[in-house]
Amino acid sequence: MKNKVPIGIVGLGYVGLVIAACFAKLGYQVTVVDIDEEKCKAINEKRSPIFEPGIDEILKKTPFKASMNPQDLADAAIIFICVNTPSKADGAISLEAIKKATEQIASVLKVKKDYCTIVVKSTVIPGTTQEVILPILEKSGKKAGQDFGLCMSPEFLREGKGINDFMQPDRIIIGEYDKKSGDALYDLFRDFKAPILRVNLTTAEMIKYASNTFLAAKLSFINEIGNICKRLGIDTYQVAQGMGYDERIGAKFLNAGVGFGGSCFPKDLKALIVHAKELGYQPKLLEEVKNVNDQQVLRMIELLKKHTSLRYKNIGLLGLSFKPGTDDIKDSVAILITQTLLAEKAIVTAYDPQAMQNFKKIFPQISYNNPDEILKCDAVLIITEWEEFSRLDYSKTKIVIDGRRVLKAKEALIYEGICW
Ligand code: UDX
Repeated sequence: MKNKVPIGIVGLGYVGLVIAACFAKLGYQVTVVDIDEEKCKAINEKRSPIFEPGIDEILKKTPFKASMNPQDLADAAIIFICVNTPSKADGAISLEAIKKATEQIASVLKVKKDYCTIVVKSTVIPGTTQEVILPILEKSGKKAGQDFGLCMSPEFLREGKGINDFMQPDRIIIGEYDKKSGDALYDLFRDFKAPILRVNLTTAEMIKYASNTFLAAKLSFINEIGNICKRLGIDTYQVAQGMGYDERIGAKFLNAGVGFGGSCFPKDLKALIVHAKELGYQPKLLEEVKNVNDQQVLRMIELLKKHTSLRYKNIGLLGLSFKPGTDDIKDSVAILITQTLLAEKAIVTAYDPQAMQNFKKIFPQISYNNPDEILKCDAVLIITEWEEFSRLDYSKTKIVIDGRRVLKAKEALIYEGICW
């Protein structure tokens, strides 16, 4: 058995948690450091702090340690930085958390005797690892390339499928400060059945942004085609099927609907747009990808208004999470839809199998109920395609506006699909 080096992870968010669990499952000794006491407590009690399929089972079989003390990373040979890099008000990336995490690691480097490799996994704007993270690490008095290694290796995990995406990656990108740094990370991933591409730090950062904004562009493209198809009275999904046979297009990620949300696409799109402008380039296509998505949400309301007024009407929402299989409501289209309905004085009642607790933190003023009660509302909007919504009885529901292709809802007295 190849010796498995001790692994440290900073950041117990979605990415850090999935990576920690997967390396633990692969037999590595893993220690995670986070500033959130509740999260650390949950992990040490073998409970997952977030809803992600498969994590609880791994925690029970191959637990790993969580700590609030960065010095607990002192034995790690490789330390992954997995903290969040959210948007600032102007859409630019916020590096606050990652700077703090890097300072914590610098305090560990200061006292560490042996060489270790720091790996940035957080999604950071191209140039960040070289120009921001490296100088903070060298404040430890240690030298990159000499006393420690530095890599940037983006993650491509989808929420709800994180373990699968880690264990069966399409590719592994290793951005390396120098060959020795890259070799250390290569050793960790050499047995994975996936191509490994070794590039420089900035190129690795850009591969992540280009991948995510391309996927967002593909969605805004099929939603734009969908809006045209809707006016032609044809089904976008049949058009997408016809397109998908061309391997240059591919059949995946062509589900037209109410638009994309989540912790990544909206944030990464905004961050790259802002950064491109800082570099003196006007990213017109990327800006339109964002505009089409922002407009798509409002089409649900337009369609609804074709069939009913909104003032004081009971409007039911089926689905609140940004996609099925997660409790994450970050940038979920349900947020803008709820805001718009409340502004029009509608009375909103919502249901989601996993995300209601999170949604209540933002919208305590709306009601929450079970699907059967939702279906009795004056109109129902389908926002997230949870599998259980395909088993409901819509036959007595007055109006359904479907943003996610739940065709069972065609039973309703009035049914409108956003792009079909
Ligand atoms: C995405 C990328 O897929 C992943 O590689 C990256 O690491 C993080 O961001 P995630 O945000 O978890 O993953 O969700 P994903 O499954 O990609 O869906 C993103 C959004 O697009 C969701 O709101 C989903 O509803 C929407 N979507 C997805 C569509 O509207 N149509 C589709 O065909 C696919």
